[in-house]
Amino acid sequence: MSEDLFALARGAMRKAHAPYSRFPVGAALRTSDGRIFAGCNVENASFPEGWCAETTAIAHMVMDGGGRIAELAVVAERLRGCTPCGGCRQRIAEFAFPETRIFLCDPVEGVIETLLLDDIFPRGFAEDSLCGRTGDAA
Ligand code: THU
Repeated sequence: MSEDLFALARGAMRKAHAPYSRFPVGAALRTSDGRIFAGCNVENASFPEGWCAETTAIAHMVMDGGGRIAELAVVAERLRGCTPCGGCRQRIAEFAFPETRIFLCDPVEGVIETLLLDDIFPRGFAEDSLCGRTGDAA
């Protein structure tokens, strides 16, 4: 099941708009109800304003009505085993579970390692963190 996500992520990677970093990335995710979405990174001349492949895939999922991420593959042309960046870990966590599988890939070999979201994003800030806030006026 992970290999189809790898193939889709690699296909997305080939569509990356990454002329500034020259670091094309692709991601593909499967929702818990079986839908699949892919994305690439999209950069622009104001370097920090670009966004990641995982973010594009999540946006496609949200535009299709949302969902929960069961599995997600990420692949980078120039880095074996590229992991989601910190910001994407937060964005993935918004729609995922601690046991969501994250497939790290080699662009040629395919999936080389499977991690859980909880492995790469333990003790993350979440919706229930907001509910537990203190200091509200009574
Ligand atoms: N990038 C991603 O698309 N996903 C990641 O998880 C890591 C980084 C992109 C952002 C930027 O376009 C390029 O890779 C270099 O950082």
